[in-house]
Amino acid sequence: MAVTTAQLVDWIERYAAVIAEQKQYLTGLDAAIGDGDHGINMDRGFQQVLIKIAPVKDKDAGTLLKTTGMALVGSVGGAGGPLYGTFFIRAGTALDGKAEVADADLVAALEAGLKGVVERGKANLKDKTMVDVLTPALEQARARLKEGASIADALSAATDAAEAGMKATIPLKALKGRASYLGDRSIGHQDPGATSSYYLLRTLREALADPPQGASTSTSYVGREQQPTS
Ligand SMILES: Nc1ncnc2c1ncn2[C@@H]1O[C@H](COP(=O)(O)OP(=O)(O)O)[C@@H](O)[C@H]1O
Ligand SMILES: [Mg+2]
Repeated sequence: MAVTTAQLVDWIERYAAVIAEQKQYLTGLDAAIGDGDHGINMDRGFQQVLIKIAPVKDKDAGTLLKTTGMALVGSVGGAGGPLYGTFFIRAGTALDGKAEVADADLVAALEAGLKGVVERGKANLKDKTMVDVLTPALEQARARLKEGASIADALSAATDAAEAGMKATIPLKALKGRASYLGDRSIGHQDPGATSSYYLLRTLREALADPPQGASTSTSYVGREQQPTS
């Protein structure tokens, strides 16, 4: 099976909607261990993405993802926005000219995106960042595809790994980014960027689900595991 640009557009639109819904929640997570702007940054960035991708929705997957990344880099300050921008630009570069993307090529493109995030942010595993979600998630996706799973099943496993990685940031001490300034006081809080990266996998799973899932609603994201605990 192959993934179409239209499915990737659906992913980005779903992600923008979830970020808008979860803006306060993400900002609350960031207020606990950072400067309280992660939800605001990501929402500003993805509202810009929606505008910028409008003229390229019929183009190849590479153009779509690179346009997404450039919209983020151009509109969001701080650490998180530019790191997501790098992720999408690198993923898009790996998909240059492809109108249809083979399953393995999609996972390889996401891996290229993660590599860009690591090169730029220099985070190691367990530093309490988005890398703690993207790394195990993409490892799962690749492993499942190798076993012969469909892209939908591979992303389902990836999303489960992403959720586990997100929750596993809670007991960690932050070693990168603003949260690292807090030292031990960062322990006990879920990382905001890890949380937005979990949404990234989850919305991709929804966009590629077979049969397609309905558009996400706030009840599917809020009120279950995503409700702030304090
Ligand atoms: N060096 C880094 N490598 C990977 N991710 C990082 C790094 N620094 C910060 N992050 C991620 O960015 C998130 C914070 O994003 P955001 O609040 O938008 O930016 P800022 O920290 O500049 O306010 C963190 O929760 C973390 O997941
Ligand atoms: Mg912040």
